[in-house]
Amino acid sequence: MQTLALPIFPAGEFLLQKNRFRFASPIPSTFLCASYSRKVTVDGCGEGDRMCVLGMGFSGRYIGGRLMQEREWNVSGTCRSDAKKKELNKMGIDAFLFDSTKDRLENLKSLKEATHLLLSIPPAEAGNPLFHSLEKLRDFLGNGNLRWMGYLSSTSVYGDCGGALVNEDYPANPMNESSKARLVTEKKWLSLGNQLGVSTYVFRLGGIYGPGRSAIDTLLRKKQLTSYQRMRRLKRFTARIHVADVYEAVKASFDVSKSGTYNIVDDNPASRAEVFAFARNLIEEKWAGQVLIDESREATRLDSASKAQVRKGEKRVSNVCMKTQLGVNLTFPDYKSGLLSILNSYGE
Ligand SMILES: NC(=O)c1ccc[n+]([C@@H]2O[C@H](COP(=O)([O-])OP(=O)(O)OC[C@H]3O[C@@H](n4cnc5c(N)ncnc54)[C@H](OP(=O)(O)O)[C@@H]3O)[C@@H](O)[C@H]2O)c1
Repeated sequence: MQTLALPIFPAGEFLLQKNRFRFASPIPSTFLCASYSRKVTVDGCGEGDRMCVLGMGFSGRYIGGRLMQEREWNVSGTCRSDAKKKELNKMGIDAFLFDSTKDRLENLKSLKEATHLLLSIPPAEAGNPLFHSLEKLRDFLGNGNLRWMGYLSSTSVYGDCGGALVNEDYPANPMNESSKARLVTEKKWLSLGNQLGVSTYVFRLGGIYGPGRSAIDTLLRKKQLTSYQRMRRLKRFTARIHVADVYEAVKASFDVSKSGTYNIVDDNPASRAEVFAFARNLIEEKWAGQVLIDESREATRLDSASKAQVRKGEKRVSNVCMKTQLGVNLTFPDYKSGLLSILNSYGE
């Protein structure tokens, strides 16, 4: 058995067994499970800035992990299961169980202490229950230490744009219930920040990829594609962003007082088909014979009505404001550099 160690997935590894890769971690996106050193004062409290991430998922963990690693920030965050809470604790994150459909934010101890608050919980279709008691929330946050608020939203709020180039001034026209709920959440978030008088940002993200969640990972896992994945393959343009650059954008916004909404996407809205062809070649060059699914044939199974629907919704998303106003320098300006770095991080 040949084992491929993944340096950035300390909790897991790809195993090459009988010519099949499988990810050995129960949670593949757990790529930051190493314990980070954390500055602790004599009374047990951490020094400096404190980030609280509501929704410690793929991006939340990455951002929290980098802030601890690079800036020695104290990081707390929420999840919904004991197993995830344990993993987060192992990383050095103060984790709290929180389900927005039944729990109240006002009961979250770490919120009061937070200097920075990142919302990474997707809104439910019926709206974001976080805001059910907005006044209470405002009073609660207003009495704390908060200086910065960020919300991870999505470019899906623009809706169908017929292939147009869209910047932040392009009228949002969300097409489904979750995108509509996202737009409502954006507005509430900005308004809450305004009322509190803290710098507040909405980041409209393209498809987030990174180690553990990328075309390379999809091809290596060899699972059947979902119908949503098959539909997306037909698009000529797809906005995407490496999770490291989501972090760069969040970090850049700490230092500029330009509250507002920013598209966070890379420079190349290449089609999913192009990205998968590139990923396939990369894997084949490194580990010949390991890609068994034929992604290109999956899309042909869709009916023509679905194909027409996908193409109607296309857009190219501009990242000019992200660069000129936030001053972000992308670490991975296109999928090629991003995928190559992911592959290289998976060892030999
Ligand atoms: N993935 C993309 O390509 C993409 C693109 C654009 C925008 N976005 C949005 O950007 C944000 C970050 O994306 P991501 O992919 O990093 O997210 P993710 O991995 O799906 O993580 C979402 C987090 O929200 C938590 N959560 C979900 N429903 C909740 C609820 N009802 N109450 C409390 N917590 C809840 C999850 O908790 P558990 O950990 O317990 O599951 C998880 O920690 C999300 O809002 C996502 O919708 C994602």
